Amino acid sequence: MFDLPKAELHVHIEGTLEPEMVFEFASRNDVALPYSSVDELRSRYEFTDLQSFLDIYYANMAVLCTRQDFHEMAAAYLRASARQGVRHAEIFFDPQAHTKRGVEMGAIIDGLSGALEEARNDGITGELILCFLRDDSAESAMGTLRQAEPYLDRIIGVGLDSAEVGHPPSKFTDVFAKARELGLRAVAHAGEEGPPEYVAEALDLLEVDRIDHGIRALDDAELVERLRREQVPLTVCPLSNVRLGSFSRLSEHTLPRLLDEGLLVTLNSDDPAYFGGYVADNYSAVRDELGISIEQLRQLAANSFHASFLDSDHRRELLTEVDAWQA
Ligand code: ADE
Ligand code: ZN
Repeated sequence: MFDLPKAELHVHIEGTLEPEMVFEFASRNDVALPYSSVDELRSRYEFTDLQSFLDIYYANMAVLCTRQDFHEMAAAYLRASARQGVRHAEIFFDPQAHTKRGVEMGAIIDGLSGALEEARNDGITGELILCFLRDDSAESAMGTLRQAEPYLDRIIGVGLDSAEVGHPPSKFTDVFAKARELGLRAVAHAGEEGPPEYVAEALDLLEVDRIDHGIRALDDAELVERLRREQVPLTVCPLSNVRLGSFSRLSEHTLPRLLDEGLLVTLNSDDPAYFGGYVADNYSAVRDELGISIEQLRQLAANSFHASFLDSDHRRELLTEVDAWQA
């Protein structure tokens, strides 16, 4: 699965912060940690639901202070992803989690985009997607978009993440309208823990190009029919769904049903430093645990390029490589 060319469309760059990096950055930035070792930190990575993960995910971000930290974190992710066969990555970042601690928007974006520039030399292209935290206010989201305006040439789109239930897409209608007016693409997490209605709202009110997760869409047959008819891409993250308790084990994941329904599914890692695998590990896991066939895996890789924001020439080139791939 490592040599199958693929795009990764659902990865939170802060979710690639490996425990070793947490300690390294804490030490150089003089940030005190409530753990005495990497092993102790890793032993806390037992989650019951999304919120139990988010608590430690945001706590660890305290070590991200400088442009260099953001640069090194993204460079490490891109190196790991190149080894996983990733040829193109569309990467989420959560600026509010940093600006509220006094980190400048410019330091975040310079750090991340600098790493993306360098990775081009290694045959991997990338884009940044600025995510709004849905458990923060709509006003805070609008203020964040304003702060990002000087850097829009380095941002391809906006997204919506963090604690889903109780924070429907409708809360962010205005800021997504503004983002689209500014020429940005749009995606949103919906139907991860939240109901199918949130998926419909993301499509109708936020006018998103893709749905992140979307697994709970299967609870609503009419919505499934719409997702199939409109070929709305879903960025599914199997290892994440198991670690956050949507499925008790991978063999119970509904990926086979999503594929049987004819939906435009892609495979992704979400927060690989926390969930036990990068993107190719997700491909291998669904092959081993769900019996996903080689031709289905090839289709999932092709879908990742179809669902991406790549220009059509580059997309065609990468799709040819997927066709030529031999398992
Ligand atoms: N932020 C990082 N990972 C997330 C996830 N799986 N769902 C929502 N917000 C997130
Ligand atoms: Zn996510």
